[in-house]
Amino acid sequence: LNASLNDRLAAAPIVPLVAASDSETAVAITEALIAGGLGVIEVVLRSEAALDCLAATVKAFPQAQVGAGTVLTPGQARQVIDAGARFIVSPGLHEGVVGAAQEAGLPVYPGIATATELQTAWNLGLDTVKFFPAGLGGGVPMLKALSSVFRGVRFMPTGGVSAANLADFLAVPQVIACGGSWLTPAAAVAAGDFATITRLADEARAIASAVRP
Ligand code: 3PG
Repeated sequence: LNASLNDRLAAAPIVPLVAASDSETAVAITEALIAGGLGVIEVVLRSEAALDCLAATVKAFPQAQVGAGTVLTPGQARQVIDAGARFIVSPGLHEGVVGAAQEAGLPVYPGIATATELQTAWNLGLDTVKFFPAGLGGGVPMLKALSSVFRGVRFMPTGGVSAANLADFLAVPQVIACGGSWLTPAAAVAAGDFATITRLADEARAIASAVRP
């Protein structure tokens, strides 16, 4: 159960987003995702309570890999590191955020959507980046174009990924995992319908294992 992040992503290449306005809900969402076989969880900094959500989730599931997403500033990077995040994700590329994670020895996945951003990330010493927004940013054809130039780079497409296109993204060998909010619909969270979240996690894992047996 204590496998590294990369081992976990190889087993289930999916990173669900957890957005909650209180820590009990964040823990309940994460519990439902883990019940669905997903052990790499991204708690996003999108509410006043997000840091509490992150800290509570890290504490509740020490066997999972709980990271932080929507980390916009170096200050936030330091806060999520203090809260116990195992990895850091950003929508865009910021040198200070990357540096804070690197200093702490944490994996960091900044978002890139152009060759210039990817080249900057590469020069910061990164070989794995988020591709955001993956759908609007050109989808699979864009990933293939970037991969042909930046050999050895791996991508985490996020933004517009769903059960309908997950298989297409995972069919690209350079894709380490896909991220997204489709596994944790706000309506299900609001209704306390955590069984739906487990079902969506199961469905995503089945799609992934069909592409990567
Ligand atoms: C992110 O933070 O990665 C995106 O908001 C996820 O995009 P999605 O909601 O389309 O999955």
